[in-house]
Amino acid sequence: MSKIKFLSLGKQPITNNFLIEQNPINEFFYDLNIVYDENTNVVSLENFVPPERMFNETYAHRASMSITMRESNKLLSENITKRFNPKSVLEIGSNDGIFLKNFPNIKRVGVEPCKNLADITNGVNIETYDNFWDLGLSKKINKIHGKFDLVYSANTISHIHDLNDALQSVNLILNDDGVFILEDPSLLEVIKNTSYDQFYDEHAYVFSVLGLNNLLEKTELEIFDIEKLTTHGGSNRVFIKKVRSNKKISDNVSKIINEELNMGMNKFETYQKFAQNVINSKNETIKIFTELRNNNAKIIGYGATYKSSTILNYCGLDTKFIDYFTDTTENKQGKFTPGTHIPILKPADGIDSKINYVFLGAWNFKKEIFNKEKKFIERGGKFISHVPFPQII
Ligand code: TYD
Repeated sequence: MSKIKFLSLGKQPITNNFLIEQNPINEFFYDLNIVYDENTNVVSLENFVPPERMFNETYAHRASMSITMRESNKLLSENITKRFNPKSVLEIGSNDGIFLKNFPNIKRVGVEPCKNLADITNGVNIETYDNFWDLGLSKKINKIHGKFDLVYSANTISHIHDLNDALQSVNLILNDDGVFILEDPSLLEVIKNTSYDQFYDEHAYVFSVLGLNNLLEKTELEIFDIEKLTTHGGSNRVFIKKVRSNKKISDNVSKIINEELNMGMNKFETYQKFAQNVINSKNETIKIFTELRNNNAKIIGYGATYKSSTILNYCGLDTKFIDYFTDTTENKQGKFTPGTHIPILKPADGIDSKINYVFLGAWNFKKEIFNKEKKFIERGGKFISHVPFPQII
């Protein structure tokens, strides 16, 4: 067998299943195990969760809620226009239109299986298909709209179980000299930072460039450039073209592949070592929370992220440790965290004066949060983060 298990993160709920009742009767849990494929270097969940359980009309994540994300999408759109000047753009996983709204003057089409989100973009004249991305949909869009100069997909391709189908579907819809830009969390960064919270139901895969490169070998597509991003705690923006297109292949590609090889990402032992770091991180996190709670510290969580669901459930951090979470996403507010049943509140203007410690569920927005919560920091409030190692900041 080429796929070998290296990490077990225990029983986990659906990360997007923010609960209406604190103690529901039939909450769904599954075993979150992570495997490494020796043939392709691809890291994935051992058992995929059925997509309909995760991506439906109750999907909570709204990309436009963060200033950082709005600004970075605007800047990216400007850079893409300067570099490739596309006349048409298709986005796979268009969420609430945070990216596509920056292209008002060219043909733009969205694909977003969560109907509540697709309704938002359809409502502002961005034609959006509320379907899962696959060959059938690609053929249908091709028939209606023709091919596209740019296909963009951020934090979505890693969610798709049948990657071969997803990539063939992109190949079909992409113009011969078109560009496919894919952004997903970087496995290299996950390993460097022990940020095991990137593993959850939706992230069927966490990509290395090595793995992606191997998957692309079966297609007519190839990587021609890569940018490292800070998004989601470290992602890769991978630029892909058709093999027959004569765009130059940047040195960045071999540079990053070599970095991954130097890190040993083509060897199973590296993943075993990572798994040990995860166990150490868990023990240290539990120790920090237990000591603080024994000293009657008031602890809340900041940002009820999908990522944090993995940590909370893996480390057993429930209402015994965390009083409540605050989150700016309206449809998480008034609900409870999946599996650990911690109340989620709308953030007040500034952190409550009784709170001493704030666990960074949204550690990937640390800078934005520290800027926003200067008063808390000035009065001696501390943050807890498990990245790159469990610590009080
Ligand atoms: P996100 O970064 O998308 O992480 P994930 O993909 O793991 O869910 O989510 C960030 C969450 O944090 C989102 O629900 C909004 C919330 N948030 C706050 O509540 N306050 C803030 O200041 C920021 C930046 C985010």
